Amino acid sequence: MNERVYTRVINAIASALAASGARDAEFLAGEVKLKGRDLAWKIRHAALLLANSEYRYVRTKSGKREAQKGLRKLGFNIDRGDAAAARTALAQAAATSAGMSLARDLGNLPANICTPTYLAREARALGKDYKKLRVNVLEEADMKRLKMGSLLSVGAGSRQPSKLITFEYRGAEARQQPVALVGKGVTFDTGGISLKPGQAMDEMKFDMCGAASVFGTIKTVCELDLPINVVGVVPAVENMPGGLATKPGDVVTSMSGQTIEILNTDAEGRLILCDALTYAGRYKPRCVIDIATLTGAVIIALGKIPSGIMGNDRRLIDDLIKCGQQTEDKIWELPLWDEYQDQLKSNFADMANIGGRDAGTITAACFLSRFTRDYKWAHLDIAGTAWKSGEEKGATGRPVPLLVQYVLNQVGK
Ligand code: BES
Ligand code: MN
Ligand code: ZN
Repeated sequence: MNERVYTRVINAIASALAASGARDAEFLAGEVKLKGRDLAWKIRHAALLLANSEYRYVRTKSGKREAQKGLRKLGFNIDRGDAAAARTALAQAAATSAGMSLARDLGNLPANICTPTYLAREARALGKDYKKLRVNVLEEADMKRLKMGSLLSVGAGSRQPSKLITFEYRGAEARQQPVALVGKGVTFDTGGISLKPGQAMDEMKFDMCGAASVFGTIKTVCELDLPINVVGVVPAVENMPGGLATKPGDVVTSMSGQTIEILNTDAEGRLILCDALTYAGRYKPRCVIDIATLTGAVIIALGKIPSGIMGNDRRLIDDLIKCGQQTEDKIWELPLWDEYQDQLKSNFADMANIGGRDAGTITAACFLSRFTRDYKWAHLDIAGTAWKSGEEKGATGRPVPLLVQYVLNQVGK
């Protein structure tokens, strides 16, 4: 058996359990032979898949909340000698599942509820739940003072004020450099003046799934009480047309001092991320990972199986790809070659915010690379993996498992 078959088997078990109405299940993970995977992996993977299959979105459905009639207890039949490893695996799966459920809830919430202000409130609530977590919210006036002209230009057409949310989880001594996670939080992406076509525009409520994955990962790290420092930076904005909205051709100055000609207001993710990435540098991070539903082009390039990854550090990219293999939360690298940078040339600013039709995912990363020169950085384009369309429409909670695994692997380093 391989991982893919194992995943299919577990998902089939999940459906069978759901159909049977069973409340308890006993799982004989030790019996399954999986090459290169130990018992802990099999338990963690199975428990996470089963827990995830129990997720129900109920927040905006009226009447009786669909009674949670699902699994109540999940047992794993193992040898006594494996108990400690199994317990750790289960704890990790439970915490990751809690993080994914939070990410899915935030992603699934409609944009009339899940505004930047709502995300800020949710973040503060998380900060109250955990002693080691500090949450701060920068308002538009604060961002103006910091000269975040690029980030602020995206929310200019919206009545919803933009926010910059920061999480500081301190699980280790203060001088330990943190892992920094930066998540795109566009609570709705109409495209702005470069308005999107109407087809499936509702799905642009999911344009904050990068942010949601940061919320989910931070929650998981808190639940596991990990001995490591982690920072989360979430620029939260609504991209709307309006009388004060940014127009094609407008030039803005980013916090880094670099100027940007906004040729397309629908390429807004990079405009908020660049200032958030500059801001993340203040934490002197050991590495920065940004997570964003950044380009439709990544779906053209890779489909909806993996997320795309690019970055400026071989080691970081390789580590993340390995984490993806560990968690079955796949990622695939695209080449971030210098030659692509030329596509961002502008006659009126230091750069344009779009690079034309070719290699749209790569030129988006090229844009971000100009703001991440001071640290090790990787960018995950999750436009194809953060949510499902069609009958099963909804947020997936990815790539929380991947990010959690990365943090876990960093503990003690
Ligand atoms: N949020 C979108 C990317 C997206 C589109 C994700 C469809 C998932 C499905 C992003 O802000 C965007 O609009 N990108 C543009 C970039 C273009 C204007 C250079 C795109 O992909 O078309
Ligand atoms: Mn857009
Ligand atoms: Zn967008």
